[in-house]
Amino acid sequence: MNPGSLDIPSLGARAEHMIKTLASVSAESNRLVRTFLSPEHRDAADLITRWMQDAELEVSEDALGTVRGHWAGTGKKRLLIGSHIDTVVDAGMFDGPLGVVAGILAAEHFAQAGRKLGFGIDVLAFADEEGARYPVTLHSSLAAAGAFTFTSLEVADADGVTLREAITRFGKNAADIPAAAYSRDTAAAYVEVHIEQGPVLEHRNQPLGVVSSIAGQTHLNVELLGEAGHAGTVPMLLRRDALAGGAEVILLAERLARETRGEVVATVGHINIPAAASNVIAGNVALIVDIRSGSDQARLQFIERLKAETRSIAEKRHLGLLVTTTRDAAMTPCNPVLQEGFAAAVTAVGGQPMYLASGAGHDGTAMAKLCPIGMLFVRCRGGVSHNPAEYASPSDMGLAVAALIKFIEGFMP
Ligand code: GLV
Ligand code: MN
Ligand code: MN
Repeated sequence: MNPGSLDIPSLGARAEHMIKTLASVSAESNRLVRTFLSPEHRDAADLITRWMQDAELEVSEDALGTVRGHWAGTGKKRLLIGSHIDTVVDAGMFDGPLGVVAGILAAEHFAQAGRKLGFGIDVLAFADEEGARYPVTLHSSLAAAGAFTFTSLEVADADGVTLREAITRFGKNAADIPAAAYSRDTAAAYVEVHIEQGPVLEHRNQPLGVVSSIAGQTHLNVELLGEAGHAGTVPMLLRRDALAGGAEVILLAERLARETRGEVVATVGHINIPAAASNVIAGNVALIVDIRSGSDQARLQFIERLKAETRSIAEKRHLGLLVTTTRDAAMTPCNPVLQEGFAAAVTAVGGQPMYLASGAGHDGTAMAKLCPIGMLFVRCRGGVSHNPAEYASPSDMGLAVAALIKFIEGFMP
């Protein structure tokens, strides 16, 4: 591969070093946990600030702790490049940080060469992509897009801390959130480099891929209300066991998703039994069904079926049922011109552009409310993600940074 004068091994080694350094910022010593507006978010934001300053970017921070590194251009428009620095619980280290680090290294390339472009560059380190703390998510990028929903401020985390309170504890003021929004006149486009989090690129033997769209996603909170009782005394046929009902709903979601033959995926990864005990029949259970699809129609049909069959399960078991939608995002297409730009950049670094849809969610879903979006995927080993075994090689990451630099060179706002 011959990407001109760019030192790809050095870019890859630097990306890996920065990502590993960031991975040491964790709430727990033996696993990576860095949630939105936590003390670790603060420490990670401080680290990103130093890196951006070293890269000669002008650094600021908004009301939700999003760090912004700006490199001025000759024109008013800005190319926004970002990703996230929050993580899931027991995370891998590449999901999010790669995109932030790639943005810093690419911006540094232009800043240190003293090369003025016709547009400015803003590198954005968001911190609410994973939704690991609050049931609603993407607040950081929604604020940047001018689409923040202020009712979210009253939503509470598992410890009862509202988003409004968490913002205050982080040293910020929710009243400043509107000032985080870019104007449509300024934001030319939003682009993001991210690990693929799936096996397609590895299977095709390609280090980089151009993202065509981001899947739509719904979270249904399914609450089942039965009757708590003694595990030793209540006969099996007289029970109203909310957890047994929940188990049926989990298997229902799996069966219905399998029946779509790949069009819809559904997952129950979170279940809450408020009064869990081994000797108590569960009286109350809440579970979250995460539903995703590249087709909004297929996702909505799936939801209707899931709700109808969940009602039947609840009726059969004499359980109360409350279903609420806590997240709902339509499929987000990537802009065709930006896709072409990334395809040309992949070619420029010696790759063969291939296009693929993202099954994972990204900040681009929120940023698309502001401006055109584009994404570049990087191969990750075994397609493994949301897992400490997540891995992208320094050589693939170096190629991704080089491709991002080539993309910026070809970008026209
Ligand atoms: C974030 O990684 C998501 O897709 O849930
Ligand atoms: Mn991510
Ligand atoms: Mn993730």
